[in-house]
Amino acid sequence: MLKKPYLMLAGPTMVPERVNAAMNRQMINHRGAAFSEMLEDILANLRWLLATEQDVLIYPCSGSGAMEAAVANFAAPGDKVLSLSTGVFGDRWAVMAEKAQARVLKLDSRWGDGVDLAGLTAVLAGNRDIKMVLTTHNETSTAVFTPVDQVAKIVRAEVPDALVAVDAVSSLAALPVKMDEWQVDIIAAGSQKALMLPPGLGFLAVSGRAWQAYEHNPSPKWYWDAGQVKKSQAKGQTPYTPAVGLLFGLQESLRMIREEGLENRYCRHRLLGRMTRAACRELGLSLLAAAEYASDCVTAVVPPDGVSARQIQKLLREDYGITTAGGQKSLEGKIFRIGHLGNVAPTDILVTVSCLEMVLKRLGMEGVLGRGTAAGQKIMLEGFEQ
Ligand SMILES: Cc1ncc(COP(=O)(O)O)c(C=O)c1O
Repeated sequence: MLKKPYLMLAGPTMVPERVNAAMNRQMINHRGAAFSEMLEDILANLRWLLATEQDVLIYPCSGSGAMEAAVANFAAPGDKVLSLSTGVFGDRWAVMAEKAQARVLKLDSRWGDGVDLAGLTAVLAGNRDIKMVLTTHNETSTAVFTPVDQVAKIVRAEVPDALVAVDAVSSLAALPVKMDEWQVDIIAAGSQKALMLPPGLGFLAVSGRAWQAYEHNPSPKWYWDAGQVKKSQAKGQTPYTPAVGLLFGLQESLRMIREEGLENRYCRHRLLGRMTRAACRELGLSLLAAAEYASDCVTAVVPPDGVSARQIQKLLREDYGITTAGGQKSLEGKIFRIGHLGNVAPTDILVTVSCLEMVLKRLGMEGVLGRGTAAGQKIMLEGFEQ
């Protein structure tokens, strides 16, 4: 039977035809005027997306590259760095800071729980020499969201000069990000999630306070040297060969985001998150993330006893063309994750949920057909009425 491919991952996500078409063109000279013009347009739109007047740097790398650039440039060896971890990617931040020879403190949340804000206040109060706080806006591995505005507010109150660095790899262009208003110093992001592009571009937004830290950071770096990228970009160039094809795509995806409008886009992601969670709950499936910290970009689902997460994923993929993500690290085999970010329409959720119902029925669950879909439809209808 014909199967339409649905890539319901939390990244890479489905790339819109318009973006694919924009990338399907001849290379241009990356030292020429047309490139400089494109770069200028892209940087202006990225600043708009991040709600910042600060510098935004582009690296030809995945999201992890941008995160490593953040610690390599702004956390000096010996600096005390606090990492707030709500899952795999929070842990990755901490490892990167350790590799950069920072003295790393960790504040871990149980996987599925949100960040411990009271704990954060207490740790900062007892460690006024903390130089940087690392946090993950949307923890993709556990489907947990962090209220970055509240984290930044606490840091500003307790240790005013500490840098706040945010992993927004899976949240930028899906959840509101307000760099200047929140007084965040560093934001790392990547192309293959809500920005609707293939993997391969990393973004780093940098505040004035972070540039001051950079001046006193002796860590060896060349490729990741943020000052070098800033200098080149000011001349409409990049220090090394940029990912020209991906930048063609980025220019188009940013155009699409402008056309949709940021508020509409954030509303759509809220709707996708609510539809997915309501449908899963109605089907008797547990959600890993605590309700108040549930992410609108991805939903982590815990199958009932006796039903295998891997089997659900296999049947969804092989029989219905729907690809979901599995669990990572200690969650491997225990959960499956439905990504709903970027180029995802509410109707894509309805298709995914109705196929999930068929899979669950085939795996022995009774009374599931139509129930989750109806819950999703109800929320979608309310969304249209608002
Ligand atoms: C929250 C978060 N941070 C960091 C990363 C790492 O990004 P990349 O795989 O692009 O290096 C990911 C990727 O899934 C992510 O979801």
